[in-house]
Amino acid sequence: MSNVIIINNDFRNHIIPAGLVIKDPPYNQGYAYNNYNDKLSEEDYIDLLSKIPRPCVIIHYPEETINILPKAFNTKCEQVVSWVYNSNTGKQSRLISWWGCKPDFKKVRQPYKNLNDKRIQQRISEGKTGAKLYDWWEIDQVKNVSKEKTGHPCQIPEVLIERIILTTAEPNQLVIDVFGGSGTTAKVAQRLGFDSITYEIDAHYCNIINQRISYCHTIC
Ligand SMILES: C[S@@+](CC[C@H](N)C(=O)[O-])C[C@H]1O[C@@H](n2cnc3c(N)ncnc32)[C@H](O)[C@@H]1O
Repeated sequence: MSNVIIINNDFRNHIIPAGLVIKDPPYNQGYAYNNYNDKLSEEDYIDLLSKIPRPCVIIHYPEETINILPKAFNTKCEQVVSWVYNSNTGKQSRLISWWGCKPDFKKVRQPYKNLNDKRIQQRISEGKTGAKLYDWWEIDQVKNVSKEKTGHPCQIPEVLIERIILTTAEPNQLVIDVFGGSGTTAKVAQRLGFDSITYEIDAHYCNIINQRISYCHTIC
Protein backbone atom coordinates (compact mmCIF):
# COMPACT_ATOMS: atom_id res chain seq x y z
CA MET A 1 0.00 0.00 0.00
CA SER A 2 1.27 3.50 -0.83
CA ASN A 3 2.25 5.99 1.90
CA VAL A 4 0.08 9.06 2.45
CA ILE A 5 1.50 11.86 4.60
CA ILE A 6 -0.56 14.91 5.53
CA ILE A 7 1.22 17.89 7.04
CA ASN A 8 -0.95 20.46 8.78
CA ASN A 9 1.21 23.51 8.11
CA ASP A 10 2.15 26.24 5.66
CA PHE A 11 4.19 24.47 2.96
CA ARG A 12 6.63 27.40 2.97
CA ASN A 13 7.88 26.29 6.40
CA HIS A 14 9.15 23.00 4.95
CA ILE A 15 11.83 21.72 2.63
CA ILE A 16 9.70 19.98 0.01
CA PRO A 17 11.15 16.67 -1.20
CA ALA A 18 11.64 15.98 -4.92
CA GLY A 19 8.51 14.85 -6.72
CA LEU A 20 5.68 15.93 -8.99
CA VAL A 21 3.71 18.82 -7.48
CA ILE A 22 0.05 19.03 -8.49
CA LYS A 23 -1.87 21.95 -7.24
CA ASP A 24 -5.04 23.84 -7.37
CA PRO A 25 -3.97 26.96 -5.47
CA PRO A 26 -6.27 29.47 -3.78
CA TYR A 27 -7.37 31.66 -6.73
CA ASN A 28 -7.10 34.99 -4.85
CA GLN A 29 -10.70 35.84 -5.72
CA GLY A 30 -11.94 36.46 -2.15
CA TYR A 31 -13.24 32.92 -1.69
CA ALA A 32 -14.66 32.17 1.79
CA TYR A 33 -12.21 29.63 3.20
CA ASN A 34 -12.34 28.61 6.85
CA ASN A 35 -9.23 30.63 7.81
CA TYR A 36 -7.10 31.41 4.78
CA ASN A 37 -7.41 34.99 3.43
CA ASP A 38 -8.07 34.59 -0.31
CA LYS A 39 -7.53 38.27 -1.14
CA LEU A 40 -3.80 38.96 -1.01
CA SER A 41 -2.17 41.88 -2.78
CA GLU A 42 -0.95 40.88 -6.25
CA GLU A 43 2.62 41.11 -4.98
CA ASP A 44 1.97 38.77 -2.02
CA TYR A 45 0.01 36.37 -4.21
CA ILE A 46 2.83 36.17 -6.76
CA ASP A 47 5.27 35.65 -3.89
CA LEU A 48 3.13 32.75 -2.52
CA LEU A 49 2.94 31.06 -5.93
CA SER A 50 6.66 31.60 -6.57
CA LYS A 51 7.42 29.30 -3.62
CA ILE A 52 5.78 26.31 -5.32
CA PRO A 53 8.48 23.79 -6.24
CA ARG A 54 8.79 22.48 -9.79
CA PRO A 55 8.12 20.28 -11.73
CA CYS A 56 4.50 21.18 -11.12
CA VAL A 57 1.09 21.12 -12.71
CA ILE A 58 -1.23 24.00 -11.83
CA ILE A 59 -4.98 24.36 -12.23
CA HIS A 60 -6.07 28.00 -12.43
CA TYR A 61 -8.34 30.41 -14.26
CA PRO A 62 -7.15 31.41 -17.76
CA GLU A 63 -6.33 35.06 -16.95
CA GLU A 64 -4.19 34.15 -13.94
CA THR A 65 -2.44 31.36 -15.85
CA ILE A 66 -1.49 33.85 -18.56
CA ASN A 67 -0.78 36.93 -16.44
CA ILE A 68 0.31 35.77 -12.99
CA LEU A 69 2.00 32.36 -13.22
CA PRO A 70 4.80 33.42 -15.62
CA LYS A 71 5.61 36.29 -13.22
CA ALA A 72 5.68 33.89 -10.26
CA PHE A 73 7.89 31.33 -12.00
CA ASN A 74 9.87 33.69 -14.21
CA THR A 75 9.60 31.24 -17.09
CA LYS A 76 7.16 29.86 -19.69
CA CYS A 77 5.03 26.79 -19.20
CA GLU A 78 5.59 23.62 -21.23
CA GLN A 79 1.99 22.83 -22.10
CA VAL A 80 -1.60 23.91 -21.43
CA VAL A 81 -4.88 22.00 -21.48
CA SER A 82 -8.34 23.56 -21.08
CA TRP A 83 -10.56 21.98 -18.46
CA VAL A 84 -14.16 22.72 -19.51
CA TYR A 85 -17.38 22.09 -17.58
CA ASN A 86 -21.00 23.19 -17.45
CA SER A 87 -21.85 25.62 -14.69
CA ASN A 88 -24.50 28.23 -13.96
CA THR A 89 -21.88 31.00 -13.92
CA GLY A 90 -19.99 32.64 -16.78
CA LYS A 91 -16.78 30.84 -15.81
CA GLN A 92 -16.87 27.42 -17.44
CA SER A 93 -13.20 26.67 -18.00
CA ARG A 94 -9.84 26.63 -16.28
CA LEU A 95 -6.38 26.03 -17.63
CA ILE A 96 -4.12 23.23 -16.51
CA SER A 97 -0.50 24.23 -17.10
CA TRP A 98 2.68 22.16 -16.88
CA TRP A 99 5.88 23.79 -15.57
CA GLY A 100 9.15 21.86 -15.89
CA CYS A 101 7.28 18.73 -17.02
CA LYS A 102 4.90 17.61 -19.78
CA PRO A 103 1.91 15.27 -20.02
CA ASP A 104 2.18 12.21 -22.24
CA PHE A 105 -1.22 11.90 -23.88
CA LYS A 106 -0.44 8.39 -25.09
CA LYS A 107 -0.67 7.08 -21.52
CA VAL A 108 -4.44 7.69 -21.18
CA ARG A 109 -7.49 7.15 -23.42
CA GLN A 110 -10.78 8.99 -22.95
CA PRO A 111 -14.27 7.51 -23.39
CA TYR A 112 -15.52 7.49 -27.00
CA LYS A 113 -18.15 10.18 -27.56
CA ASN A 114 -20.48 8.82 -30.24
CA LEU A 115 -21.12 5.16 -29.55
CA ASN A 116 -23.62 5.01 -32.47
CA ASP A 117 -20.88 5.82 -34.96
CA LYS A 118 -19.99 2.65 -36.92
CA ARG A 119 -16.26 3.50 -36.95
CA ILE A 120 -16.29 3.81 -33.16
CA GLN A 121 -18.13 0.47 -32.86
CA GLN A 122 -15.47 -1.05 -35.13
CA ARG A 123 -12.68 0.31 -32.90
CA ILE A 124 -14.35 -1.05 -29.78
CA SER A 125 -14.72 -4.45 -31.43
CA GLU A 126 -10.96 -4.33 -32.18
CA GLY A 127 -10.35 -3.93 -28.44
CA LYS A 128 -9.50 -0.19 -28.47
CA THR A 129 -10.22 1.20 -25.02
CA GLY A 130 -11.07 4.82 -25.93
CA ALA A 131 -10.21 7.88 -27.99
CA LYS A 132 -6.96 9.87 -27.92
CA LEU A 133 -6.90 12.75 -25.43
CA TYR A 134 -7.57 16.23 -26.85
CA ASP A 135 -6.07 19.45 -25.54
CA TRP A 136 -9.42 20.17 -23.81
CA TRP A 137 -10.86 17.93 -21.14
CA GLU A 138 -14.57 17.98 -20.42
CA ILE A 139 -14.98 16.90 -16.80
CA ASP A 140 -17.88 17.82 -14.48
CA GLN A 141 -17.11 19.94 -11.43
CA VAL A 142 -17.74 18.43 -8.00
CA LYS A 143 -21.35 19.36 -7.18
CA ASN A 144 -23.01 19.37 -3.74
CA VAL A 145 -24.78 16.13 -4.70
CA SER A 146 -21.61 14.45 -6.03
CA LYS A 147 -20.64 11.22 -4.26
CA GLU A 148 -17.09 12.48 -3.72
CA LYS A 149 -18.19 15.86 -2.20
CA THR A 150 -16.70 16.71 1.21
CA GLY A 151 -17.13 19.77 3.44
CA HIS A 152 -14.35 21.64 1.60
CA PRO A 153 -15.75 24.59 -0.42
CA CYS A 154 -13.74 24.14 -3.63
CA GLN A 155 -12.94 20.57 -4.40
CA ILE A 156 -11.33 19.42 -7.64
CA PRO A 157 -12.79 16.31 -9.33
CA GLU A 158 -10.91 13.08 -8.73
CA VAL A 159 -11.09 12.22 -12.46
CA LEU A 160 -9.18 15.40 -13.32
CA ILE A 161 -6.37 14.68 -10.85
CA GLU A 162 -6.28 11.05 -12.01
CA ARG A 163 -5.75 12.18 -15.59
CA ILE A 164 -2.96 14.56 -14.56
CA ILE A 165 -1.15 11.88 -12.54
CA LEU A 166 -1.52 9.20 -15.20
CA THR A 167 -0.28 11.44 -18.03
CA THR A 168 2.51 13.11 -16.08
CA ALA A 169 3.96 11.17 -13.12
CA GLU A 170 6.95 8.88 -13.64
CA PRO A 171 6.59 5.38 -12.15
CA ASN A 172 7.15 5.53 -8.36
CA GLN A 173 7.41 9.34 -8.41
CA LEU A 174 6.35 11.05 -5.18
CA VAL A 175 3.17 13.07 -5.71
CA ILE A 176 2.96 16.32 -3.74
CA ASP A 177 0.15 18.81 -3.14
CA VAL A 178 1.12 22.03 -1.35
CA PHE A 179 -2.48 23.37 -1.16
CA GLY A 180 -4.17 20.18 0.01
CA GLY A 181 -7.77 21.31 0.59
CA SER A 182 -9.90 18.19 0.95
CA GLY A 183 -7.02 15.89 -0.07
CA THR A 184 -8.14 15.04 -3.61
CA THR A 185 -4.57 14.64 -4.87
CA ALA A 186 -3.62 12.34 -1.96
CA LYS A 187 -6.78 10.27 -2.37
CA VAL A 188 -6.21 9.69 -6.09
CA ALA A 189 -2.46 9.10 -5.65
CA GLN A 190 -3.22 6.41 -3.07
CA ARG A 191 -5.74 4.70 -5.37
CA LEU A 192 -3.19 4.71 -8.21
CA GLY A 193 -0.40 3.38 -5.97
CA PHE A 194 1.75 6.54 -5.66
CA ASP A 195 3.25 7.75 -2.38
CA SER A 196 2.13 11.30 -1.59
CA ILE A 197 2.73 14.26 0.71
CA THR A 198 0.06 16.90 1.22
CA TYR A 199 0.44 20.25 2.98
CA GLU A 200 -2.69 22.01 4.24
CA ILE A 201 -2.54 25.07 6.44
CA ASP A 202 -6.01 24.70 8.01
CA ALA A 203 -6.59 22.07 10.72
CA HIS A 204 -10.30 21.85 9.87
CA TYR A 205 -9.50 20.84 6.28
CA CYS A 206 -6.87 18.37 7.56
CA ASN A 207 -9.68 16.69 9.53
CA ILE A 208 -11.68 16.42 6.32
CA ILE A 209 -8.66 14.78 4.64
CA ASN A 210 -8.31 12.33 7.54
CA GLN A 211 -11.94 11.30 7.26
CA ARG A 212 -11.65 10.96 3.48
CA ILE A 213 -8.47 8.88 3.28
CA SER A 214 -7.89 5.64 5.07
CA TYR A 215 -4.40 4.80 6.28
CA CYS A 216 -2.91 8.29 6.14
CA HIS A 217 -0.28 9.60 8.52
CA THR A 218 -0.97 13.15 9.73
CA ILE A 219 1.69 15.45 11.19
CA CYS A 220 0.44 18.54 13.04
C1 LIG B 1 -8.29 25.70 -3.82
S1 LIG B 1 -8.08 24.90 -2.28
C2 LIG B 1 -7.51 23.29 -2.75
C3 LIG B 1 -8.66 22.34 -3.02
C4 LIG B 1 -8.19 20.95 -3.37
N1 LIG B 1 -7.61 20.90 -4.70
C5 LIG B 1 -9.32 19.94 -3.28
O1 LIG B 1 -9.62 19.24 -4.27
O2 LIG B 1 -9.92 19.87 -2.22
C6 LIG B 1 -6.64 25.67 -1.62
C7 LIG B 1 -6.25 25.23 -0.20
O3 LIG B 1 -4.94 25.74 0.10
C8 LIG B 1 -4.87 25.97 1.50
N2 LIG B 1 -3.69 26.86 1.70
C9 LIG B 1 -3.61 28.19 1.44
N3 LIG B 1 -2.36 28.65 1.68
C10 LIG B 1 -1.62 27.58 2.08
C11 LIG B 1 -0.24 27.40 2.43
N4 LIG B 1 0.62 28.45 2.42
N5 LIG B 1 0.20 26.16 2.79
C12 LIG B 1 -0.66 25.10 2.80
N6 LIG B 1 -1.99 25.21 2.47
C13 LIG B 1 -2.46 26.42 2.10
C14 LIG B 1 -6.23 26.57 1.84
O4 LIG B 1 -6.55 26.41 3.23
C15 LIG B 1 -7.16 25.74 0.91
O5 LIG B 1 -7.73 24.64 1.59
